[in-house]
Amino acid sequence: MTDTDTHTDRRIDSDPASGSDANADGATDPDDAEFDATASTDDTISIANPALSEDAVSRVESVLEDGMLADGPEVRAFESEFATYCDVSHAVATSNGTTALHAALEALGVEEGDAVVTSPFSFVASANAIRLAGATPVFADVDPDTYTLDPDAVADVLAARDDIVGLLPVHLYGLAADMPALSALADDHGVFVLEDACQAHGGTVAGERVGSLGDAACFSFYPTKNMTTGEGGLITTDRDDVAERAASYVNHGREADDSGGYDHRSLGHNYRLTSLAAAIGRAQLERLPEFNEARRDTASYYDRELEGVAGLETPTEPDGYRHVYHQYTVRTPHRDTAQQALSERNVETAIYYETPIHRQPAYETISTAAADLPQAERAAETVLSLPVHPTLSDDDRRRVVDAVRDVFQSL
Ligand SMILES: Cc1ncc(COP(=O)(O)O)c(C=O)c1O
Repeated sequence: MTDTDTHTDRRIDSDPASGSDANADGATDPDDAEFDATASTDDTISIANPALSEDAVSRVESVLEDGMLADGPEVRAFESEFATYCDVSHAVATSNGTTALHAALEALGVEEGDAVVTSPFSFVASANAIRLAGATPVFADVDPDTYTLDPDAVADVLAARDDIVGLLPVHLYGLAADMPALSALADDHGVFVLEDACQAHGGTVAGERVGSLGDAACFSFYPTKNMTTGEGGLITTDRDDVAERAASYVNHGREADDSGGYDHRSLGHNYRLTSLAAAIGRAQLERLPEFNEARRDTASYYDRELEGVAGLETPTEPDGYRHVYHQYTVRTPHRDTAQQALSERNVETAIYYETPIHRQPAYETISTAAADLPQAERAAETVLSLPVHPTLSDDDRRRVVDAVRDVFQSL
């Protein structure tokens, strides 16, 4: 990728367990139900590709005709539909996943001098949001099989510090963290749980949807996510107080019934979602079950076809969990060589995340970044994500499997 590659620019700008949001299959026929505005011309299988439908276009057109482009009924409808999907009583839409996390922490009452436990093996936004709320992120190590917060490590942190006010587990790659164990710890210590569900729309634990498993949860709708609004985010919660404060915070501290007025009760921000984005979100939410099924289908195909490939471990789906494969991430000691060889075979892969958060230059001044986190470090050295987006064709999937087998055979 070169400096002038706009796909690369987009990847750097947001995160996102992201990757390019460009399509690679060249599907540009306007009569197709699926279309892609950024189709590339080579036959590289891309790591991510948003699937937008004509329905999203006509919904956006309706909003344009209606003329209410910023906050409004379209956003309220999206919030209500997403809350129903997660089986919670409230949803508050935001401009992106990072602002959702920040607003949720403010709504949960996080203050300067507080500390919140999170994963060092995530997109930097998980920890940045804690700092934006004036608190200190404290990193606990991850489980080596699931890459999500290890409850034993969290218990050690809770025992060692008396300034922890909450836990911020990350449902990484589409797999929920160990919420039963983390919720029990949170209850014992009287701290909140804020789910970072930015990569796990539709995932479940014991049949319960992520978004409903803690005091609140946050989602991102960046183009590479399991569903998109372009840029966008959303907070879900069953707590009336958190919903009220979050809705006010994202709207400059206005009261809920004063959306356009000038009565500002508390400090806030403009973190609102646009109606155009909400229109896309409503169309995408209808298709989320289908997208997740396609991701799961490809994941089980890869599981079957890659089982036994020497030097490669396929991902884990613990009993009782429904993984929604935002990423299909294998682990291998030959990661960098394998990535290069796959790229030469026109299979785009990605590393989420090569540098754990506590090793980021932006965290040099954060005292808790000096923690010993061996599993996060090992994960960062060995993980590699393969294309698993819902617009992969059977031929694409077969090509990925053939390329992986071929590469690992010759290592
Ligand atoms: C785990 C995680 N948390 C937070 C975010 C932030 O979301 P956004 O890029 O929409 O701000 C992202 C994503 O990109 C993410 O992957």
